[in-house]
Amino acid sequence: DKDLFKKIVSHAKEYGFVYPSSEIYDGLQAVYDYGPYGAELKKNLKDIWWQSMTRLHANVVGLDAAIFMHPLTWKASGHVDSFNDPMIDNKDSKKRYRADTLIEDWAARLEAEGKPEKAQALVTEMNQLLEAENLTELRELIVREGISCPLSGTTNWTEVRQFNLMFSTEVGSVAEDASKIYLRPETAQGIFVNFLNVQKTARMKVPFGIAQIGKAFRNEIVARQFIFRMREFEQMEMQFFVRPGTEMDWYEQWRETRLRWHKALGIPAESLRIHPHEKLAHYANAALDIEFKFPFGFKEVEGIHSRTDFDLRSHQELSRKKQQYFDPELDENGKPYGNYIPYVVETSIGADRLFLMLLCSAYREETTGEGEEQKSRTYLKLHPALAPVKAAIFPLVKKDGLAEKAMAIYNELRHDFNLIYEEQQSIGKRYARQDQIGTPFCIAVDYDTMENDTVTIRYRDTMEQKRVPISALREEIGREVSA
Ligand code: GAP
Repeated sequence: DKDLFKKIVSHAKEYGFVYPSSEIYDGLQAVYDYGPYGAELKKNLKDIWWQSMTRLHANVVGLDAAIFMHPLTWKASGHVDSFNDPMIDNKDSKKRYRADTLIEDWAARLEAEGKPEKAQALVTEMNQLLEAENLTELRELIVREGISCPLSGTTNWTEVRQFNLMFSTEVGSVAEDASKIYLRPETAQGIFVNFLNVQKTARMKVPFGIAQIGKAFRNEIVARQFIFRMREFEQMEMQFFVRPGTEMDWYEQWRETRLRWHKALGIPAESLRIHPHEKLAHYANAALDIEFKFPFGFKEVEGIHSRTDFDLRSHQELSRKKQQYFDPELDENGKPYGNYIPYVVETSIGADRLFLMLLCSAYREETTGEGEEQKSRTYLKLHPALAPVKAAIFPLVKKDGLAEKAMAIYNELRHDFNLIYEEQQSIGKRYARQDQIGTPFCIAVDYDTMENDTVTIRYRDTMEQKRVPISALREEIGREVSA
């Protein structure tokens, strides 16, 4: 539903969640900034991920590696040679497209025109050509099918070329001394190169994991769907190091653990699905995506990959430093497993894409009442643990000591929860504003409060109100917001 997605994007901008980067200069394509409520929501998501991946797993520890890494890292990882998208330019509009996206969009059009078999055949042929890296025939397919440029409408295409997605820059000040380095396109490599450091210093035993949150950069050719595909984004990745031969068990275990996590955030089961990869990345022997039903269709949110020993083995070759682990445990014949390069199962999720999933899943438009009484409202049904603001405190009026009383409650509870104090406008408008940013509780201080130290709590989802003693507020809010 395109209209729904448009509404969500403008809601995000209007209510302080996400702005286009450097907007006063008309923005920068595929780069975004997070506003006050967006920054809180994203931080809550990262904290919950970190908490569940590290503190709640005895055998997963954290890491915070640098964005810049030795250039050989990316040679070893395969990114210098293989991290490419096939691109094609239209000679008339001078517009650049990812060849596969161009074909996929064309297939979607065929499907919409009631030709699903033709669409399927087109995608299958494209996948075969991509697999074989046959760029010449990929172009021929585009020409043969008469796929036209959405902008110019012509079929005047260039060759298909591979385009590396890594951004590069230089370290060192003098041109001759300067050497080219990359901005990391995934955080995972920071974990691989530190595998032995972490294993030794944190005294970890296989199987164990290393988790990390950090920025990653990709020069995406097709930047679209808001924060779904960005050039600068944040990843939350975990590499789980296992004994060779046990990786498929761990792969399945992590798939289930991660799926449960998404559901615990309040995402309905029917909006999630598992999509196993047919075409595997250069490092994987099994891979799947956890997909969410965005308004523009089911799309990847998280990847689970069985990466074998590809990365550690390549780093061993290029660095000439052994990347082996000595496993003292005994096998079924009573012999120690001894030295080996561990296999790796990875879970990898984009914090921004997760943010978008939650925004789409939480966005609600609702009409209540009939006739004259009819009211409509927009609200974000976010899990209270994720909501940027946990509670808003309102004095009914500013006079007669109500504002001071409300401010005293605010000052008391702000140490425990992110709160808003608001005394402007009508109480109805104040409620509406909190609904729009997803605040689960509104606390109103009225004349009764002055008499008996009770307040009303108004619940975002049901709009019901309940009277509670001020002394019960901490517990009432705390119970709901703890994940
Ligand atoms: N280390 C494995 C890896 O990077 P990936 O499937 O390329 O695998 C993992 O990326 C996740 O990172 C994706 O599922 C997505 O959530 C996020 N991601 C990747 N590219 C992105 C982009 N351009 N913008 C936003 N998020 C992105």
